[in-house]
Amino acid sequence: MELNGIRSYVVRMTRMSDHQKHAYERLQGRYCIPFDPVTEQFDPDEETLDWYDLFPHRREQPDREIIMDIGFGMGRELAELADRRRDQDFIGVEVHKPGVGKLLSELERRSLENVRVVRYDAVQVCRYLIPRSSLTGIHLFFPDPWPKKRHHKRRLVRPGFSELVVPLLRPGGYLYLVTDWEDYAYQMVRILEESRDLKNLYAEDSQNRFAPPRKWRPQTAFERKGLAKGHRIYELVYERAQ
Ligand SMILES: C[S@@+](CC[C@H](N)C(=O)[O-])C[C@H]1O[C@@H](n2cnc3c(N)ncnc32)[C@H](O)[C@@H]1O
Repeated sequence: MELNGIRSYVVRMTRMSDHQKHAYERLQGRYCIPFDPVTEQFDPDEETLDWYDLFPHRREQPDREIIMDIGFGMGRELAELADRRRDQDFIGVEVHKPGVGKLLSELERRSLENVRVVRYDAVQVCRYLIPRSSLTGIHLFFPDPWPKKRHHKRRLVRPGFSELVVPLLRPGGYLYLVTDWEDYAYQMVRILEESRDLKNLYAEDSQNRFAPPRKWRPQTAFERKGLAKGHRIYELVYERAQ
């Protein structure tokens, strides 16, 4: 499988506000899942995450759906969705520390117990931490577009992506991707449609592979930026074959 080595992000040196810093220090023990496969020994065949430990309410409600949000940015939309859907559980993955800090304070403000966070590279999180066939959905909203051709290799949706994420979905689970970069949208289509385990739910014909907007998806900060530049929003919804 590819996706090795080249990161899909650069660690931004954005200063954390004192509020974000305090929120992060105070709340990480409550909401974050410690994970660092570089310093710890991980057996890739071991499922290291126990959803029951993470969300004790699942013992009474084991059928609750679990959704993973990759690259939630500042986390406002993830918190909003989790607040509206308290009957589902969410795992957010993000490398940007100020964004994680912001989300943690939002989780506390809204008293949300249905969200847990991993601050680490989603590629490693998917590879080692998430149990196979356990997710109902994976959200990837406005992943970094890496618009320059020489940077395309950094795009998260690249060869190897389907093999990485599809096994994490339960049969019938969905993959929902949104981008405002046209060529990335078509790259996503090419990559995902090479997978025999995925079905595009909205493929009308060979020309149109895109889904109508999901009304329940909160508009994101990056979406607003894209719209302000006059970009079209491309939505893709795939289902894992049963
Ligand atoms: C363009 S922003 C979009 C944020 C948010 N989803 C939105 O729509 O506003 C992409 C985010 O993905 C994060 N990201 C990129 N690659 C990642 C990776 N491999 N693992 C975790 N987060 C990643 C970046 O730090 C950044 O916050």
